[in-house]
Amino acid sequence: MTQDRWTAIDRYLADRLLPADPALDAALADGAAAGLPAIDVSPPQGKLLHLLARIHGARTILELGTLGGVSTIWLARALPAGGRLVTLEVDPRHAAVARGNLERAGVADVVDVRVGPALETLPELTGPFDLVFIDADKRNTGEYLDRALELTRPGSLIVADNVVRAGGVLDADGDDPGIRGIRAFFDRVAAEPRLSGTAIQTVGSKGHDGFALLLVE
Ligand code: SAH
Ligand code: DHB
Ligand code: MG
Repeated sequence: MTQDRWTAIDRYLADRLLPADPALDAALADGAAAGLPAIDVSPPQGKLLHLLARIHGARTILELGTLGGVSTIWLARALPAGGRLVTLEVDPRHAAVARGNLERAGVADVVDVRVGPALETLPELTGPFDLVFIDADKRNTGEYLDRALELTRPGSLIVADNVVRAGGVLDADGDDPGIRGIRAFFDRVAAEPRLSGTAIQTVGSKGHDGFALLLVE
């Protein structure tokens, strides 16, 4: 199996499962035009986030790492009336693109985009959040999990993206800060009795990676 085939399969799945979505297409196009990296969740992955939020009945969602707002749109669309989403982004250019994309997708009024390093904006937030999606700089993923625990309640769901990195997660002795961050995340999960978790490896248009899913007990 090669990347081309994974991408073709993602396209097939999206074609069967995901209706045409002009707002998301435009969000991706605007992100590309603005030079944003194409590291948004894929359409099937975004739909997974959306379904998790709906299955969970999430009314308050916290996202770390907005980029152009693609995952934000998927999650915001899952909110019931009165629901709220806060998303944290360090790069003002990314946040500006995201705000335009959220506006066009019709979810800007339920989303609060906070610009700054997440470790500085997280202390300004009041929980509890029903769902937290961790998808910012990978080096801080372990620290973000600690902060997420402070901002959630028993029953909350924490989801983290990019926890496999094509097997990079196995590199115990390397000095890639992103990998070290992911491993610190798993070390914390393993040591935290308040968390019941799993992880699924993902393949598709975004390569081989993974999502971790953690329930706060
Ligand atoms: N969740 C998005 C992708 C996020 S990419 C999606 O799936 O559509 C990761 C984002 O995290 C980038 O926009 C990057 O600028 C941002 N980021 C990096 N370091 C950060 C930090 N310290 N605080 C907040 N955001 C950060
Ligand atoms: C990177 C970040 C992501 O959120 C992602 O899904 C893929 C890659 C990155 O920073 O390299
Ligand atoms: Mg990601």
